[in-house]
Amino acid sequence: MKSGRKKSGSNKNAMSKNDDSVGNANETKNKFFTDGNYDKVTVSQILEMKKRNEKAAFVTAYDYSNALICDMAGVDGVLVGDSAAMVMLGYHDTTRVGMQEMLVFCGGVCRAVRRALIIADMPFGSYQGSVANAIHNAVLFVKAGCNAVKIEGGEEVVPLIRSIVAAGIPVMGHIGFTPQTSPMWKNYRLHGKTLDSALKLMEDAKELEEAGAFSIVLEMVTDEVATLISQDLSIPTIGIGSGLNCDGQVLVSHDLLGLYESVRLRFVKRYAHLSKTILDAISQYSKDVKDKKFPQDVNSFHMDKDELNKVLMTLKKGRMSRENRQG
Ligand code: KIV
Repeated sequence: MKSGRKKSGSNKNAMSKNDDSVGNANETKNKFFTDGNYDKVTVSQILEMKKRNEKAAFVTAYDYSNALICDMAGVDGVLVGDSAAMVMLGYHDTTRVGMQEMLVFCGGVCRAVRRALIIADMPFGSYQGSVANAIHNAVLFVKAGCNAVKIEGGEEVVPLIRSIVAAGIPVMGHIGFTPQTSPMWKNYRLHGKTLDSALKLMEDAKELEEAGAFSIVLEMVTDEVATLISQDLSIPTIGIGSGLNCDGQVLVSHDLLGLYESVRLRFVKRYAHLSKTILDAISQYSKDVKDKKFPQDVNSFHMDKDELNKVLMTLKKGRMSRENRQG
């Protein structure tokens, strides 16, 4: 598989047809791929969408194959979230993931996505030390192919956002429940329930906008406060658990795909039950192997009959000459 970013009508770089492949995996009805025109979503387009009152759909992805599907589905943005720590690496919280791992996840996603805006989540520890270090890490994400970075926090990250934006890198803010630090302070998950909380969120949002953020994730913010913030800002709000009136939405792909049936989050809508689908498929495969039902002839490769005869003759001759030597 080549990873070229050629403009082409089908996603040939991802699914090349060779002698060993069957079916036409390239075919997709998605307009972005069949008409050969997959104009890259830009930060300006995301801003324009708000002016047109058009909702933006973001989803997380962490690897090549899933990012390919997300892009084909026509989402506006793919977030390589630090939720990777939990859904990809099995950690209990997001603080455990570092730059090295995030760059590997981003690499896979960037090699797949042609159209959607790609945002890298700056992991805990990658922007707290110094502005210079934060810019260095943001640049590493851009060099990996990402189009923007996301930073959690309110007024405390304003100078940082200014510096990263001044370095030419678009920044997405993230307020409300901030998974990197909220659990450490045992903060409530839902934000914007009281006057103080509402005013703080609104001030933070305004400051992030003034610092140059191009959009802000609102995580677990009451519908009312998310609505007020969305009305107040000229940049789009991207909600997760923050109601219908945000300018866009983001969900963790594993949640919307139903990869964890045991986790039930009220703000998630499950669009599939992939854990059951995958479980059934792997169980059936395992059973087929044990029952000798897989592989079948259609899954096997054969050599030419003449070549096979030559092999058998050679083996026979070898056996005979060994027997003669021994005998
Ligand atoms: O890491 C992540 O997936 C996120 C989203 C929940 C916004 O930050």
